[in-house]
Amino acid sequence: MRILGLETSCDETAAAIVEDGGKVISSIIYTQIAKHRPYGGVVPEIACRDHVRKLPEIVKSALKEANCSWDEIDAIASTYGPGLGSSLLVGLTGAKTLAMRMNKPLIGVNHLEGHLNSIFLAEDVSDPYAVCPMLVLLVSGGHTFLIDVQRLGSYRILGKTYDDAAGEALDKGANLLNLGYPGGPYIEKAAEGGNPKFFDFPRGNGNKGPANLDGDLDKNLCFSFSGLKTSLLYYLKNNPTVIEDGHLSDLCAAYQEAVCDALIKRVDRALSSGNYKSFACVGGVAKNKTLRKKLENRAKKHNARLLLTPMEFCTDNAAMIAYAGLLRYQAGTAVMEPADINPNLTLESWA
Ligand code: KG4
Ligand code: ZN
Repeated sequence: MRILGLETSCDETAAAIVEDGGKVISSIIYTQIAKHRPYGGVVPEIACRDHVRKLPEIVKSALKEANCSWDEIDAIASTYGPGLGSSLLVGLTGAKTLAMRMNKPLIGVNHLEGHLNSIFLAEDVSDPYAVCPMLVLLVSGGHTFLIDVQRLGSYRILGKTYDDAAGEALDKGANLLNLGYPGGPYIEKAAEGGNPKFFDFPRGNGNKGPANLDGDLDKNLCFSFSGLKTSLLYYLKNNPTVIEDGHLSDLCAAYQEAVCDALIKRVDRALSSGNYKSFACVGGVAKNKTLRKKLENRAKKHNARLLLTPMEFCTDNAAMIAYAGLLRYQAGTAVMEPADINPNLTLESWA
C-alpha cells in the first residue's frame, strides 16, 4: 500500500510517499523558518499564506521524487490537528481537493500520533506492533508528554508540562541570548565544548502543579520549564558581562543540561515503575545529541530497547503523517474524510 501524506500544521510545508513497513519513497520538506525568524516565532498569517503558495509544488515534487503516478497512490493522509488553525486548513483543504479529484480515500491524522509513529521510519523497526508495551517521551516545540502505550494506537498520558514545552524553553532561552530561531539547534551548537555545570539552572522540581491532576497524570512525571527561562533572564541581568567574558558556551551547555536532565529524571522514574519492552523519544527536541546520549544510558540501565526517530524525521515532516495514516487505515481505525480541522486535537481523545 502507498500513502501520500501532507503536513502543514505549523511552519513546515511537507509531502511524502510512504509504503508498508514504513518505507519512505519520497519526503519533501519546505521550512518557512527564514520567514518567521525576524519575529522570533511563528506568525500564523505568514505561515498559512506560505502554505498556500508552496503546497502544490511540494506535492508535485513528492510524486516526482518517488517516480510515482496517481494510479499508484492508494490513499491520501493529512494532518487535521493539533496545530495552527489557518495552517491546518490549507493542508486539509488541499488533501480534500486532491482526494476528490483523484478519487482516493482521505485519512485524517493526528499530528502527535504522527510524531509517535516517526520511530517506525527507522530501518531496524520492522514490526510496529512488536514494540509494546512502550514508554514514549514526546518533546516538540508545543508539547512535552510522557506516554504509556500498552498497544499501538492506545495512549495514556502519564506526565505533561504544566507550562512551557521543552522545545519552547530552548526557543525562549535562545531568544534571551539573541542566538536565533528556532532555539534548540542554536543552543546545541553554542553549547559545544561548554561546561554543563557552569550554573545550576532549575529542573522544574519546585512546581507542584494543580491540586487535582487530570486523568492518569502523575505529579512525579510532570514537567515545568517556565522557571528555567526566568532563571536565565535573571542570570543575564545579574551577570551582564557573562557573554563578553567568554561564557556563552558554558551558559548554553548548562541550560541544555537542565532541559535534558529534567526530561531524563522523569523518564527514569516512569521506566522504573512500568514494565516496558521499549522506550522512545520523538519530536523536534529528539534531535538533540546530548539528550540522545543520555537516553542511550537510561536504556542500558533499564535494559529496555531504545527507539529513536531518524534525525530527518524528528522535526515536522509528512512521512510520519503518511505512515500514521497507513497504520490506522490498515487497522480499520482511521478517521476517514474529516469534516473539519481540530486545532486542539489531543492524543487521548484520539485513542
Ligand atoms: O516537532 P517540531 O518540529 O514542531 C512541533 O511540532 O512543535 O519541534 C520543533 C522544536 C523547536 O522548539 C526546536 O527548537 C526544537 O524542536 N529542536 C531542537 C533541535 N532541533 C529542533 N531542540 C534541541 N536540539 C535540537 N537539535
Ligand atoms: Zn510537530
